[in-house]
Amino acid sequence: MRVGLLTSGGDCPGLNAVIRAAVLNGVKTHDFEMVGIRNGWAGIIEKDVVELTRQSVRGLSKTGGTILGTSRTHPYDAAGGGPENMKANLAELGVDAVIAIGGEGTLAGANRLAKDGLPVVGVPKTIDNDLMATDYTFGFDTAVQIATDAMDRLRTTGESHRRCMVAEVMGRHVGWIALHSGMAAGAHAILIPEVRTPMTQVCEWVRQVHEKGRSPLVVVAEGFIPEGHDDPLAEAGVEDSGRPRLGGIGEWVAHEIEAATDIETRSTVLGHIQRGGNPTATDRVLSTRFGMQAMNLVAERRWGSMVAARGTEIITVPMSAALSGLKQVPQARYDEAKVLFGR
Ligand code: F6P
Repeated sequence: MRVGLLTSGGDCPGLNAVIRAAVLNGVKTHDFEMVGIRNGWAGIIEKDVVELTRQSVRGLSKTGGTILGTSRTHPYDAAGGGPENMKANLAELGVDAVIAIGGEGTLAGANRLAKDGLPVVGVPKTIDNDLMATDYTFGFDTAVQIATDAMDRLRTTGESHRRCMVAEVMGRHVGWIALHSGMAAGAHAILIPEVRTPMTQVCEWVRQVHEKGRSPLVVVAEGFIPEGHDDPLAEAGVEDSGRPRLGGIGEWVAHEIEAATDIETRSTVLGHIQRGGNPTATDRVLSTRFGMQAMNLVAERRWGSMVAARGTEIITVPMSAALSGLKQVPQARYDEAKVLFGR
């Protein structure tokens, strides 16, 4: 069998480790030929592939990004897309099966293609850790480590000046990165999209810490919306053009804190630093196990299924199981962290 691998959607530390493991398992265990499909679904539409061998994936598991490139090209909506064109192109390329590595959008496309008769299996990916059907996704541990390191640094400069420091982390829809990095760094307030904390409460926590002569540290996920506001940035006159906004929620929160408490406050947006660079050892192990198991699913012709983590096991679930909404931070997890907020 000749198996194609593609990475689609936002990149994520651990993608290369999945590619390496899948290729090595495909070649060594199953005697498959392997090809890399460049730039996500676009690579099938444009018939852009590259041979992958044991040599070409050597040493890859420690590297960030994806050697195959990625894009947000939609397999159905893009010009030249759709199941019939894809099938024809794969036949022309001599590709018998596809492993699609991606987040919710990618898996939705892959699931639809599988239903339309294409031989596709999935590997879940997102630094946000918000995919259903898997306890963890690779990239999350790395993002949390990067955010924690950054907050440790913000703390020492904050303490030197007795300033309140606000760190904005990724998480458009969920607050997993904020919760875990905030707990790890000992933040005095963690603000996440799932919990609409009022700014009066945030300012109270900040005051309590400052009064004790310490430097308050606040971590805010980019999708946080405080109680009493529908769209704080729009209210502040920041236009939403669909492109990154000038001034994010971290800056807004910092401004509100300083205005309400008179405590000098600074904000830092960690942004794509959280997605770049080498994966942690934990993420390399998860990626490697996902990649190996995905290749076993191909060998078993389990089209429409994907690998997932449950406890310490790697399991197989239907791709549709990852598409039933986002995995949010449960209120109980937030309440547990909240005990340590403020003083
Ligand atoms: O990978 C998910 C995510 O990190 C979100 O938290 C973030 O909003 C988004 O990606 C930004 O991605 P991009 O800039 O590539 O659109």
